[in-house]
Amino acid sequence: MSYRVAVCVSGRGSNLAALIEGLRDEPDAEVALVLSNRATAGGLEKARAAGIPAEVFDDPADPTEWITRCGRRDVDLIVLAGYLKLVPAQVVSRYRGRMLNIHPALLPLHGGQGMYGRRVHEAVLASGARETGATVHLVDEAYDRGAVLAQSRVAVLTGDTPETLAARVLATEHALLPAVVVAAARAGSPVPLAETPTELES
Ligand code: GAR
Repeated sequence: MSYRVAVCVSGRGSNLAALIEGLRDEPDAEVALVLSNRATAGGLEKARAAGIPAEVFDDPADPTEWITRCGRRDVDLIVLAGYLKLVPAQVVSRYRGRMLNIHPALLPLHGGQGMYGRRVHEAVLASGARETGATVHLVDEAYDRGAVLAQSRVAVLTGDTPETLAARVLATEHALLPAVVVAAARAGSPVPLAETPTELES
C-alpha cells in the first residue's frame, strides 16, 4: 500500500518540488495532498502542475479542517515544508510521530516563532558561527522543536550574506527532505537518518 504524504506550504514550494521529484521513483510513496494557508502560495501551482490535489485552508487554526482534509486523502505523514503558521495542538497530537518540519538552521540553534527565511541566516551570521545547515525534525506543540531526524551541514564563508547562505542551505534541504521522507516510507514511519550526528539527536 502506498505511503501517502501531505505537504504544507506557505510560499514558493521549492522543497515541495524536490520532494515530488524525490518520490518519483518510489513505487510505494507519493505526495497525495498539498495544503496551504495562502491561496497565492507558489507551492499550490507546483502541486497542480504535477497533478496533485492542492487545497487552501478556510481556517488554518481549525483542527477539524486539518483532520478532515488529511483523513479524506488517507494521509500517513504530514510534512511542513516552508509552512509558517503554528499547527493546531489537536492536529499535532493526532499525527504525533507522523509530522515533520524542515528548518534552515542547525536546530536547536536559530529556531522558534518568527525565525524563518532571511532572519534565520541573519542570526547565523550575527552569531559568528562557522557552520550552519538544515534540520528535519518531528513536530511537537512548539515552533521548530521536536526530535531531530537528520541534519545537513554547510560552512559559513567569509563574505557570506543572508542570501548566499540561504541559497547554499536550501540546496542541501532539497536533498535532505526527500531522503528523510523516503526513509520514512520504507520504514513505515519517520526514522532518524544514520548519518545524523549523535550529539544533535534529541
Ligand atoms: C525553507 O528554507 C524552509 O527550511 C523554511 O522555509 C523555506 C521554504 O522554502 N522553513 C522555515 O523557516 C520554518 N521555520 P520553499 O517554500 O522554497 O520550500
